[in-house]
Amino acid sequence: MTEPDILINFIKNVPKTELHIHIEGALEPELMLKLASKNNLKLKYASPEEIRKAYRFKNLQSFLDIYYQGTRTLITEEDFYTLTLNYIQRAVRDNVIHAEIFFDPQAHISRGVKFDTVLNGIYEALRDGRNIFGFSGELIMCFLRDQPEDEAMRVLDMAISYTDTIKGVGLDSAERNNPPSKFSRVFEKAREHGFLTVAHAGEEGPPEYVKEAVELLKIIRIDHGIRAVENEKLLQSLGRIKIPFTLCPLSNLKLNVVRDLRDYPIRKIMSAGVLATVNSDDPAYFGGYVNENFLALHGALNLTPAEILTLAKNSVLASFMDAERMSMWIEKIEDIYRHTFLSS
Ligand code: ADE
Ligand code: ZN
Repeated sequence: MTEPDILINFIKNVPKTELHIHIEGALEPELMLKLASKNNLKLKYASPEEIRKAYRFKNLQSFLDIYYQGTRTLITEEDFYTLTLNYIQRAVRDNVIHAEIFFDPQAHISRGVKFDTVLNGIYEALRDGRNIFGFSGELIMCFLRDQPEDEAMRVLDMAISYTDTIKGVGLDSAERNNPPSKFSRVFEKAREHGFLTVAHAGEEGPPEYVKEAVELLKIIRIDHGIRAVENEKLLQSLGRIKIPFTLCPLSNLKLNVVRDLRDYPIRKIMSAGVLATVNSDDPAYFGGYVNENFLALHGALNLTPAEILTLAKNSVLASFMDAERMSMWIEKIEDIYRHTFLSS
């Protein structure tokens, strides 16, 4: 095998976690059509090819408009189960061993789907994923930041009886003009009830939103965070506390957050001390699961074996898995690295 092939195999085979995946964003066009037909819903599109052709996005909002249309096909517990189990099966093929999965209850409750229907379907699939594949999954419930604060408070109240099922809360949807400060009280209450907290910040929104998310919402991991590179002082301060960023290269490319992956600032982010991780965001919409994100980044930046090792280890270190599993996976990753690059 040539050296580049060895590196590509290492990317594919190294165990890794995924920390930024919206389960509704894993709805592949084939399943969307199947669910639409089963649930007697009319879609604008007749084939997976037609659907994929429509996935040309100008920005975050143009994506969200289509994404929320797609979520309408998810109605029964079984629909959420199938969606989630399909994601797990696909992730396992990329050697993802653990995922922390976002879900957007408000996108479903607003259409009359019950909170329990969503949660039970996803949770059953996580249980089967564990039994069938040894895959571990956690759930992060996201608040839609373009909806009112009191609505977020109401879903938080629904989640409070499920602290054994839902590990954390997050903040997603349209970022512009919806600063983290709008949800200070919601996040404070979530923390009081033991939820871990993350938030999308600095995807389309300015670096100040990243600062606000950390200082006001007291989040312990930043989703995206990429626009923090525009403020050197902020980036350095985030590096000092070694906060993780869940970066999503293909998403950022497709939503025009970056123009070219050759300019992707992951090295700048890593050298500041931030714990960078690579994730897929909405893989069914942005053209790739975790390994495709790693490979696209590698194709653009020519990542070194040591950088890939760091990114795989970061994905474990930035996760919410327990300390014992964490050190087991770190050792495994280092072993595979040594066998691949340092033996003979
Ligand atoms: N919901 C699903 N994907 C998202 C993204 N990339 N940013 C904000 N909200 C989202
Ligand atoms: Zn996201």
